[in-house]
Amino acid sequence: MDHFLYRNGQLFAEDVPVAEIAEAVGTPFYCYSTATLTRHFRLFDEALEGTEHLVCYAMKAASNQAILKTLAALGAGMDVVSGGEYARARAAGVPGERIVFSGVGKTREEMRQALEGGIRQFNVESEPEMAALNAVALELGVTAPIAVRVNPDVDAKTHAKIATGKSENKFGIPIARAREVYAEAAAMPGLEVVGIDVHIGSQLTELEPFRLAYEKVAELTGVLRRDGHDIRRLDLGGGLGIPYTRSNDAPPLPTEYGQLIKDTLGHLGCEIEIEPGRLVVGNAGILVSRVIYRKSGEGRDFLILDAAMNDLIRPAMYDAHHDIVPVQEPAPGAEQAPYDVVGPVCESGDTFARGRMLPPVGEGDLVAFRSAGAYGAVMSSEYNTRPLIPEVLVHEHQFAVIRQRPTFDEIIKRDTIPEWL
Ligand code: LLP
Repeated sequence: MDHFLYRNGQLFAEDVPVAEIAEAVGTPFYCYSTATLTRHFRLFDEALEGTEHLVCYAMKAASNQAILKTLAALGAGMDVVSGGEYARARAAGVPGERIVFSGVGKTREEMRQALEGGIRQFNVESEPEMAALNAVALELGVTAPIAVRVNPDVDAKTHAKIATGKSENKFGIPIARAREVYAEAAAMPGLEVVGIDVHIGSQLTELEPFRLAYEKVAELTGVLRRDGHDIRRLDLGGGLGIPYTRSNDAPPLPTEYGQLIKDTLGHLGCEIEIEPGRLVVGNAGILVSRVIYRKSGEGRDFLILDAAMNDLIRPAMYDAHHDIVPVQEPAPGAEQAPYDVVGPVCESGDTFARGRMLPPVGEGDLVAFRSAGAYGAVMSSEYNTRPLIPEVLVHEHQFAVIRQRPTFDEIIKRDTIPEWL
């Protein structure tokens, strides 16, 4: 459920007409709903009620300071994957003890930054990384809390580009080697083993792959404890999918996911961490764009928008589907027609949808891409020197620009000219 609904013939973001925001900030722009963000975060938090837990929002999904502050105020921890994300989390007021650091390629500099600034745990993904972290920790005279990310070799049944839990993926260490790697970790004086980490992929629409992975983690917990390791925390990653269309089967709910966690791991008495990104922010954001032209092509009609692949890369990159709806509510029973919905960038891949059935929309009309809050703004670029588009946060009847659109001058000034030119 989200808070982008038609009211009086207009799409609203909470209590603000989307057209009013478009008038004020210009198109295209991202618009997030505080109520939806809050609701989705709480669903996870409540799903784990009764179990000691921390919901570490995977901020790679949307990392604007205002979004982080909104979630931090609800008690969220953060899952970060770079020094930049760590700095953003700290700048938003998240204490180090609520930040977990994931990622296959943490640099020594990033390790130092997090050890000095405070960190809950590093999710380490390889032996070379373990050795590097041990060295950095000893250099600083501290111990680094770690969980080892294990790769359970489970098929997440999602898009190949976002599946991470099969043995052929670059992530984690094979679960079969876990005992050996934990023994190595225990022998490193700069490291303190606190738990196990697993993440099998993103946009999962079934619980079964989670169940398979978590059962393996449960078994491994027993084995490692018998080996003498103090496994007191389990980080279960993110990955629960969202409905991108109204029609397809809805993915499992956070409550069902929470129940699965309790069923598979509850008996171990471990503190549970989860790292949801998409489900927290995905349906809490829309991308609003204006139709520049409607063009008749050979056997098809194009809607050319002022948003493009540089603003929302998911359709081009993953063939992802985003519902596109007119901001002005279509008349009941309005006839639909098929359109190829495209952006102005000079590539055929700059196509948001082919043959999409849409109610009448024409030049100057506003449209909204739904479910664009996660992996939208954060994956945008300035390709074709199209400025990064603004982000807006709505809270009941108020809205605020939380990231400004840069001017052309600002963009150009970021380049520097060598003295020989
Ligand atoms: N934890 C780890 C270690 C991850 O790698 C990810 C996502 C998450 C948590 C959060 O997963 P979520 O709950 O959001 O599914 N750009 C792609 C998605 C990439 C996901 C990468 N890792 C997309 O637009 O679909």
